[in-house]
Amino acid sequence: MAESTSTTTTTALRLKDKVAIVTGGASGIGEATARLFAEEGARMVVIADIQDELGKEVAASIGGDRCSYFHCDVTDEDEVQSLVQSTVKAYRQLDIMFSNAGILSLSHQTVPELNLSQLDRLFAVNVRGMAACVKQAARAMVEGRVRGNIVCSGSVGGSHGALASTDYIMSKHAVLGLMRSASMQLAEHGIRVNCVSPNGLATPLTCKLKGMREEEVQEVYKKFARLQGVVLTPKQVANAVLFLVSDDSAFVTGHDLMVDGGFVHNH
Ligand SMILES: NC(=O)c1ccc[n+]([C@@H]2O[C@H](COP(=O)([O-])OP(=O)(O)OC[C@H]3O[C@@H](n4cnc5c(N)ncnc54)[C@H](O)[C@@H]3O)[C@@H](O)[C@H]2O)c1
Repeated sequence: MAESTSTTTTTALRLKDKVAIVTGGASGIGEATARLFAEEGARMVVIADIQDELGKEVAASIGGDRCSYFHCDVTDEDEVQSLVQSTVKAYRQLDIMFSNAGILSLSHQTVPELNLSQLDRLFAVNVRGMAACVKQAARAMVEGRVRGNIVCSGSVGGSHGALASTDYIMSKHAVLGLMRSASMQLAEHGIRVNCVSPNGLATPLTCKLKGMREEEVQEVYKKFARLQGVVLTPKQVANAVLFLVSDDSAFVTGHDLMVDGGFVHNH
C-alpha cells in the first residue's frame, strides 16, 4: 500500500520586511489595504490619516508591532514631509507609499453650477495632497536608494467624463497625469509608480455621501459594472494594490489598473 505523503505548501509572504505608508488608512480601501499589507509580512505599516481615533483603533487592531498611526493631513506638505521622514527615521526606509487619501465632491458640481471654492478644497486633498505624498515618498526612496513602489488611488472617473461631480472627475484625471509623469521620472531609480482605479464601491465615504447602508450602496453601484455576480469590496481593491506593490508586478510601471468589472459608462 502506498504511503500517503503530506505536502506542505508554504506561500511566501509578498511584503516581507517592507515598510509601507497608507494615507487614508483609517477607513475603507486604505484600511483594507493596511490590513493586507500587514498580513503579507510588512515589517511596519504606517497609517496616515486625519481621523485620529479611528486610525489608532485600526492600527491597534492590526497590532502595535506591525502597524502604527501617524496624524497627517495630506493638504499640508510639512505634515506629509514629517510623516515620511519620521517613518524613515523609525524604520530605516520607505519601500511602499499607497497614496490613497481622497474625498468626494461636496455637492452636485455640474459645470454650470460649479462651486469653485469646493473645487479648491477637493483639489487640495485629491490633487495637491496626492502630489505631496508622491513627491515626499519619491525623495525618500531616491535618497535611501530604495527601489520602492508608489501606488495612487485613482478612479474609473479618471478616464471618463460624468454628468456630475466635475471637480472629482477632474481631480482623478490629474492623478493619472501625476502617476504617469512620476513613473517616467523615477524609472531610472528603479521606483515604480502605478494607479489603482476602482469602480464605485461601498465604503464609509460613499455610504455617508449617499446616506445609505453598505448593501444599499452596493446595489446602487451594480449598474456601473457589466460583470455580474460579484460585488466590489475594499478587499478586492486592496488585492490589486498588493499586486502593484509586490514583485508579482516587477515590470509594471506607469499603469492604471482598473478594478471596475467592465465599467458601464452610459447607464
Ligand atoms: N469608494 C469608492 O466608490 C471609490 C471609487 C473609486 C476611487 N475611490 C478612491 O479611493 C480612495 C479611498 O476612498 P474610500 O472610499 O476608501 O474612502 P474613505 O472615506 O472610507 O477613506 C478615505 C480616508 O481618507 C482620509 N482623508 C480624507 N481627507 C484626508 C486628508 N486631507 N489627509 C489625510 N487623510 C484624509 C479619511 O479620513 C478617510 O479615512 C479615495 O482616493 C477615493 O477617491 C473610491
